[in-house]
Amino acid sequence: MIRTELCERLGIKYPLIQAGMGPFGTNRLCIACANAGVLGLISASALEFKFMSEDTYEMFKRTFEPGIEGPTPAETLKNIFRRTLERTRESGGIFGVNVMVSEEVRGPAEEMIRATLEVREDDPEMRRRLRVLVTSAGNPVPWAEMVKSSDLFWMHVVPSVRAARKCVEAGVDGIIASGHEGGFHVAWEPLHTMTLLPAVVDACPGVPVVGAGGFCDGRTLVAALALGAQGVQMGTRFLCTQESDFVDLWKESILKAGDRGTVVARGIVGPARYIRSPFSEEMVEVTVKYSPGVYTGKPDDLTTVPVEVLLKEMEGFSATYRGERERALTAGGECAQRINDLPTVKELVERIMREAEETLARLRSL
Ligand SMILES: Cc1cc2nc3c(=O)[nH]c(=O)nc-3n(C[C@H](O)[C@H](O)[C@H](O)COP(=O)(O)O)c2cc1C
Repeated sequence: MIRTELCERLGIKYPLIQAGMGPFGTNRLCIACANAGVLGLISASALEFKFMSEDTYEMFKRTFEPGIEGPTPAETLKNIFRRTLERTRESGGIFGVNVMVSEEVRGPAEEMIRATLEVREDDPEMRRRLRVLVTSAGNPVPWAEMVKSSDLFWMHVVPSVRAARKCVEAGVDGIIASGHEGGFHVAWEPLHTMTLLPAVVDACPGVPVVGAGGFCDGRTLVAALALGAQGVQMGTRFLCTQESDFVDLWKESILKAGDRGTVVARGIVGPARYIRSPFSEEMVEVTVKYSPGVYTGKPDDLTTVPVEVLLKEMEGFSATYRGERERALTAGGECAQRINDLPTVKELVERIMREAEETLARLRSL
């Protein structure tokens, strides 16, 4: 069986991470992934952005079971952790949480991380199984003192070697190198997985690196291992499973995505990769008009972009959640064009690992 040092350190069966995919819920998906031997991640960003967007929170709430919502976002997150622990007790599955730490949500991000530390405090089982914090979309350095006061395994997501060096400075336990082909938020200056992943591995010796962006099967997993990664994080692939909390229309958009089936346009927090549709193509036109920097690697500031343009993204997501096909907007990675089925998480994981073993055997015989 293919195992890496990351598997040993986290106690997971396979070198696979199910990506956090906020601001949408991944509560049920996380449980299914943890039960299947994958590191499952809860997305906390809808709770962080609750003060800005009730619409997003409403989409997130669809993934709640009765009794999950608490009086504050922090209490809600703790309840989600408790429910996840309960639902993964039999398998002893390992899970974690993804918290976005960008400047505009500094306060709420701190609340989420504090809730994660607190819920683990007096519960040895929670400490053992709520094992990982994945921070993203910001500078990891200011968070080091708080996170390193616990024994959480801390990973940070990066789109460049420069950002990976910041992770080393912050003392993270692992780095997720996320290439431009990945789903939803991407970087202003495109760097794809094939270049980014080995460059981060080389720049950060001794720190486990996980690849993200474009991974969806056993062959791509083996490719990541060949590039020096200790595992892969998959977003779009896990989104398109039976247990995934995303609505059917979203999954259908991935299943239908054809050759070159994604576009990059300006979303509310920056460039984002969407599944190609009339709506997302309209967003590309608007981006060219107000925010051409997306395509030339030059960050814009929001002053050039009218508010109604920024709000388009949320309108599109809300339409998807209401089942309005003509106005639907969905996000996903380039690998959407390689995804053609809706398996259970267990079936998917077994297939990925079987294909990875077969691929290794084939390579050995060359
Ligand atoms: C719908 C969607 C939402 C996402 N939301 C987040 C998020 O809230 N935080 C984050 O760090 N990454 C987010 N991502 C990126 C994933 O964590 C992951 O890195 C990416 O999907 C990997 O590329 P792939 O889609 O090719 O697997 C999101 C991806 C998708 C598809």
